Amino acid sequence: MSSDESLSSVDQRVTWHPFTQMAEWSPLVIERGEGSWLFDTEGRRYLDGVSSLWCNVHGHSQPRLDRALRDQLARIAHSTFLGLSHEPGIRLAAALVDVVPAGLTRVFYSDSGSTAVEIALKQSFQYWQLRGRPKKQRFLRLGDAYHGDTLGAVGVGGIELFHRVFGPLLVQSIAVPSPAGTDGSEALSRLEAELTNRAYEIAAFVVEPLVQGAAGMLVHPTGFLSRASELCRRHGVHLIADEVATGFGRTGTLFACEQESVSPDFLCLAKGISGGYLPLAATLSTEEIFSAFLGARSELKHFFHGHTYTANPLACAVGVESLALLRESTLANAQSRIPELTAALGRLASVPGVRSIRQCGMMAGIELESIDGRSVGVEVCERARAHDVILRPLGDVVVWMPPLSISADEILFLERATMVSIMAKGSR
Ligand SMILES: Cc1ncc(COP(=O)(O)O)c(C=O)c1O
Repeated sequence: MSSDESLSSVDQRVTWHPFTQMAEWSPLVIERGEGSWLFDTEGRRYLDGVSSLWCNVHGHSQPRLDRALRDQLARIAHSTFLGLSHEPGIRLAAALVDVVPAGLTRVFYSDSGSTAVEIALKQSFQYWQLRGRPKKQRFLRLGDAYHGDTLGAVGVGGIELFHRVFGPLLVQSIAVPSPAGTDGSEALSRLEAELTNRAYEIAAFVVEPLVQGAAGMLVHPTGFLSRASELCRRHGVHLIADEVATGFGRTGTLFACEQESVSPDFLCLAKGISGGYLPLAATLSTEEIFSAFLGARSELKHFFHGHTYTANPLACAVGVESLALLRESTLANAQSRIPELTAALGRLASVPGVRSIRQCGMMAGIELESIDGRSVGVEVCERARAHDVILRPLGDVVVWMPPLSISADEILFLERATMVSIMAKGSR
């Protein structure tokens, strides 16, 4: 890299960004962050309206998280969790077990939301083999579900585009209609019918509790999760709760499952687990599931899965501090901000071009009317950037997912930038 070439042009020459049409890519290069704000290499600041892809919890450069990271760095940056252990990994697992829904007692680490889901699928699958039910090989999921980008996770997803491109590579799952926008009765009766007819071949039902984020912030009717959980239990099918997006305070409680008093068989966590600092994920399961994998080494019952950076000590050390901070103050801040976010969304609802608003705690989607069949989400988010706010759309839905530490004034800033960007859409 020569010193006279800008970072932006080097980026265009040598990188390949996720979910990005590189032919139309022009990078915004971020240099640092502070609280809810990102600063680019020109020194211009932007409100991080999507928490750096939904993972930031306490804001950027949070002093306590920085210190936890530095303290751990002074000891060791990485040592494997395969065959060895370390203090931050043990401490975080114990802290998680203390706060997750009752019955989840075992923590299996990995490094992304997709791997957290893959692990739940594989553990459920292997569990049934170990318990003498080898026909239980299939998975139920909701319409429009999104659980990540690795092949197993795409297989239990319902995003049509991904299935069109990668279909032949995927595990085929069974879809139940999403309950979003309904009273949930049809989705529940379809779920019950599938369970009644084929529980003998179904390992698990995978679901995002309360709200399907990447599907467009599709909020489920109250009671759906608890009814679905009861049905799964009654038919001997695992419930896998994917709280990759909803976990760590996002919906206003530490975990979304709490709101319906649901204890799933598997809980998938990632994103906010390290406060948004480092790649880390965890798949929690019950003692009943864990115990099926126990035996003499020669029996080969153990779980054959692991990643090089599983339980990275830096990430775990930050995770311990992040969870403590969340419980001490950041969750309470989010709970106070949720009504302010609701009020701001209420004002946006009357802006011409807004079709509907959906919200679950600190997650919101502003669905826009398309213009001449053209999706306007990208355009509105690009305009918001000119008003110093970073947003990312999901098709026609503009997502609001700010850090849980956001202030009341910053919510107003987010609202204003979004409002003017929506009002200006379609104009040159
Ligand atoms: C519910 C859900 N599950 C899984 C994932 C995948 O997580 P990751 O991008 O860390 O692989 C996401 C990412 O947005 C998600 O929202």
